[in-house]
Amino acid sequence: MTASPETHPDALEASADDFALDDFGLADEFALATQTPLLPLLVARIEASGGRITFVEFMGDALGHPEHGYYSRTGLAWGRDGDYETSPEVHPIFGYLWARQVLECWQRLGEPSVFALVEVGCGSGAFMRAMLTWLRARAPRCFAAVRPVMLDGHANRLADQRAHLAGAGFEVEHALTSDWLARAKRVTGVVISNEFFDALPVHLVRREGERLFERYVTHEDGTLAFADGPLSTPAIAATFARLGLQPGDGALAEIGLAAAEAMRAITSKVERGYVLSIDYGYPARDLYASWRRQGTLMAFRRHSPQPDPLAEPGRLDLTVHVDFTSLAAAAEGFEAASLVSQAEALMALGLGEALRTASQRASADAQRFAADRRAAEVLCEPEGLGRIRVLALAKGAPLDGLRCLRPVLA
Ligand SMILES: C[S@@+](CC[C@H](N)C(=O)[O-])C[C@H]1O[C@@H](n2cnc3c(N)ncnc32)[C@H](O)[C@@H]1O
Repeated sequence: MTASPETHPDALEASADDFALDDFGLADEFALATQTPLLPLLVARIEASGGRITFVEFMGDALGHPEHGYYSRTGLAWGRDGDYETSPEVHPIFGYLWARQVLECWQRLGEPSVFALVEVGCGSGAFMRAMLTWLRARAPRCFAAVRPVMLDGHANRLADQRAHLAGAGFEVEHALTSDWLARAKRVTGVVISNEFFDALPVHLVRREGERLFERYVTHEDGTLAFADGPLSTPAIAATFARLGLQPGDGALAEIGLAAAEAMRAITSKVERGYVLSIDYGYPARDLYASWRRQGTLMAFRRHSPQPDPLAEPGRLDLTVHVDFTSLAAAAEGFEAASLVSQAEALMALGLGEALRTASQRASADAQRFAADRRAAEVLCEPEGLGRIRVLALAKGAPLDGLRCLRPVLA
């Protein structure tokens, strides 16, 4: 006689023998949540590379794999509906204020009849749309000269941006950065970017005494893990030697060779003009300060930092703070201004004045004024977007006294 499951002391074992687990459809929810279509492809790549890949390769795939990368996939949400909020998504005032800077650059360049406005890494397209909206309404002569170009690394993003700009009636050239770099003639104008360089893949390094190690990505039974090894390229040590700096002993750090290369390539296309790079980052001496122990790499999902940058590859946004010293050095032939914070730049471009004007509408539309004021605060928050920095570079054009660099309270 078979004992009933209720009375048999080995009831659970007996039922496991008798029924296939799949009959119950009970999966390991944690494993399912962390499994992404990219994970097996990364594991295969690691295997094919002899057991490990560099973090720059991992991050390149996690963000940019043609099908499953965070930035390359279809249907990426931005702003509140996405994983993080950038300044152009907070409020169009961000783009309106930078359009004022674009206008001043055009004037400083002698009001050329053809003037390139190149944005790199354009997200939803909100930044370019706001800049063109302001120029069309407030600076029609400059608007007539502007030839807008939107560059992105991913075809799906370009398609979204094209739709966004066409919806507002703007004609814009859209191109993959690599295509534009290969074919474009040198331009006179402005190259502007917001949080572009901080989304480019980095090498991870760790200093141990006098030696630098590289942090690779390996896997253990299909789960990604870090493993240290020798430097994969002499360019890493060469960069630290050029900077005359090292990460602190025992500290982790990132090194953005791709960001410096992107800056070199993009600035090589500027005959005369300005490059305005708005990004999270520090001068190298602060980025590699000895007290910084864990580097700046962050993973985000739904506006929350995630503990493991290797988890859910392709589903998390990955970002680092940029080394502005190396970015400026990569822009050959350009003069660089001292960095200013986003809060300082936006105030210099007239955020305070814009709010005063908006306040005159407060009695007519209190809700809208409250939203505008809240947006201004968010853009300038010292612990948030306000601490983003602006690197202004100029070639064949005056940099001194550029509007975004002028101290407001001087
Ligand atoms: C952090 S998002 C910033 C988006 C937008 N600038 C904003 O502020 O909302 C980074 C952007 O850079 C783009 N990107 C990534 N690699 C790129 C590359 N090699 N060239 C141009 N854009 C790239 C991404 O597709 C995305 O649009």
